[in-house]
Amino acid sequence: MRKIEFLDTSLRDGEQTPGVNFSINEKVMIAKQLEKWGISAIEAGFPAASPDSFEAVKLIAETLTKTAVTGLARAVKSDIDAVSKALKNAKFPQVHVFIATSPIHMAYKLKKSPDEVLASITEHVSYARSLFDVVEFSPEDATRSEKPFLLKAVQAAVDAGATYINIPDTVGFTTPTEYYETFKFLIEHIISDREIIFSPHCHDDLGMATANTLAAIEGGAGRVEGTINGIGERAGNVALEEVAVALQIRQDYYQATSDIVLNETFATSELVSRFSGIPVPKNKAVIGGNAFAHESGIHQDGVLKNPETYEIITPELVGVKKNSLPLGKLSGRHAFNEKINELGFADVSEDTRQSLFAKFKTLADKKHDITDADIRALVAGTTVEN
Ligand code: KIV
Ligand code: ZN
Repeated sequence: MRKIEFLDTSLRDGEQTPGVNFSINEKVMIAKQLEKWGISAIEAGFPAASPDSFEAVKLIAETLTKTAVTGLARAVKSDIDAVSKALKNAKFPQVHVFIATSPIHMAYKLKKSPDEVLASITEHVSYARSLFDVVEFSPEDATRSEKPFLLKAVQAAVDAGATYINIPDTVGFTTPTEYYETFKFLIEHIISDREIIFSPHCHDDLGMATANTLAAIEGGAGRVEGTINGIGERAGNVALEEVAVALQIRQDYYQATSDIVLNETFATSELVSRFSGIPVPKNKAVIGGNAFAHESGIHQDGVLKNPETYEIITPELVGVKKNSLPLGKLSGRHAFNEKINELGFADVSEDTRQSLFAKFKTLADKKHDITDADIRALVAGTTVEN
């Protein structure tokens, strides 16, 4: 069984979500919770971006005791120096250097030739390696880069001393099979006498970030990058909680595990949602409000007989107290009777239950959310106004 490392970038890429601006204190609180969640590395920010970004990275580095802390740097010496200064007191410092390798980014954004980009990789990864034991390199927009050039860029970074090679799907363009093949290709062709760890870094523009990340693991990736709740630029980054739970539930398939403390997932998600101001959609996989709710009669009946009929993830696994069986027009007698009992009316006779169930169905046709108060009112012989 392989162990997959997790790098969280909620405080760097996640903070690039439009409208999100964590305070330094919030960043430190999130970092502590992420450490509790069991991540192996945290990208705490982009220290060269602003004095507050620098301060947050520095404070997080001074706070965390088990987790590696990294900071982002363009292929620019002053950016790398800023990361080095911010991480002076980190127990396990790393640096993340990036430069774009796709034709469109090189021509329009960087205005550099491919050879100039290769020279910059060699120069800046070597410089980073002179200040850090552990260097990560990212060829930005890797999935729209030409494969032979991508390999040259990655090889230049490895030759200059990078240990982690991150392959960003910067604009969420790739597909699972294509990304899997990219990892296979790079891992097969890279030449190194050291262990090099490859990682996916997926954005969700086409809704494939989780599938792409898992495909990269199949292709040989040893670390994954993403954010909590999938916050990030545009459609966001991959939601790490989805990857962690998928690995756990489909261990048989991926033959891989992680050190993520899964029952801290809900608390971690809740904290990031509160501080980012981005609510978790109800139907979000793993941590959405409806992830453990069953409304239709057939499903409720199945879950009451054996939860595994319709639940592949137990609520407890991710730190949610219990599943719920919200009552609605599609609900059946089994769940209705359970609710009656739960509300303290277990002694209601079978005949009364029959007529209450009929009244409940009529009410449910008119009212969206049937509350406990509605059921109590039905039992008491009255109905609650909408
Ligand atoms: O998406 C991306 O390309 C990035 C890089 C800076 C790694 O976030
Ligand atoms: Zn990104």
